[in-house]
Amino acid sequence: MKKIVFSAVQPSGALHIGNYLGAIKNWVELQKNYRCIFCIADYHAITLKQNPRILKKKIFELVCIYLSAGINPKKSIIFVQSQVPYHTELAWILNCITKISELKRMTQFKQKSKEHPEKVNVGLFDYPVLMASDILLYQTDLVPVGKDQKQHIELTRSLARRFNKEFGKTFKIPKALIKKQSEKIMGLDNPLKKMSKSAEDPYNYIALTDTPKLIREKIKKAITDSGKEIKYDKEKKPGISNLLTIYSLLSKKSIPQLENQYKNKTYAEFKKDLAEVIIKSLTPFQEKLKYYQSKPEYVKNILEQGRKKAEKISQATIKEAKKKLGLLCS
Ligand code: AMP
Ligand code: TRP
Repeated sequence: MKKIVFSAVQPSGALHIGNYLGAIKNWVELQKNYRCIFCIADYHAITLKQNPRILKKKIFELVCIYLSAGINPKKSIIFVQSQVPYHTELAWILNCITKISELKRMTQFKQKSKEHPEKVNVGLFDYPVLMASDILLYQTDLVPVGKDQKQHIELTRSLARRFNKEFGKTFKIPKALIKKQSEKIMGLDNPLKKMSKSAEDPYNYIALTDTPKLIREKIKKAITDSGKEIKYDKEKKPGISNLLTIYSLLSKKSIPQLENQYKNKTYAEFKKDLAEVIIKSLTPFQEKLKYYQSKPEYVKNILEQGRKKAEKISQATIKEAKKKLGLLCS
């Protein structure tokens, strides 16, 4: 039996190269050796206010992004979270074994509620429990994500252990799979903070749909550090180190190789080449994206197949959990 990989992205904001390098790119490779399940986390997206018309478009776009990045629907399951009712059902069950104090400790919640104190709803607070349900429903072994999700996966493991201990073995204990080099791509406008979909300033990120002109502009404007050496040093040169990381991940050249290549070159020369490397990797992706976006029936069909498969797997888990709790289930 192949081990199970599960991951998801929210269909909100502009997907950027941080999401691609930190998460989706790694999923593509995992398809070779694992049974992979990739979800569109639309219920997570509505924990912040969304425009219904745009949300619908974003859900469809995200499926197309998965396909264009190389997720193969013949190998992997692709589905939308809200189309499988067991996610919210298990979230309720897990809510009843989650302590309020555990959720209050979640860094992402603390950050988001500090940034938008007026927008803190119960869903935002409970978000990690829904994420735990996503993962545990599929008896997941590995969860490939960026570093920002590590704490949520730790919580998922605690909840699974707690349930298993109290009611008998029901859930597999999953592990986070975080690739060191791409675990945290930083913002172009502030290399001390992660590149973020919800950034106010679009110069924070390179969106997967940015045009070549915009990419050149954004890289040109990206913050660099004092001095002029192109050298990886996260402490002293966070800006250049972040750009070197992006360059290395997209070109498959190692950082020492790049340092060597740009030994006597200027920041401007380095940035000019980096912009072209990004454009070169995004162009074929963007062409595929356009193609899938022009085939809504094909995409809908993939989601329907995915929904059926996801429902079948998750139904077995929810039934078992309800039985263990003493609930009636058909
Ligand atoms: P989100 O944008 O929060 O829906 O995240 C989707 C996936 O991308 C998750 O696995 C995140 O951990 C990952 N991710 C988001 N931002 C970054 C970043 N700046 N660097 C690396 N991974 C990221
Ligand atoms: N919360 C994740 C994020 O914003 C998305 C997500 C939802 C997820 N459910 C998941 C990631 C399950 C991994 C596994 O990045």
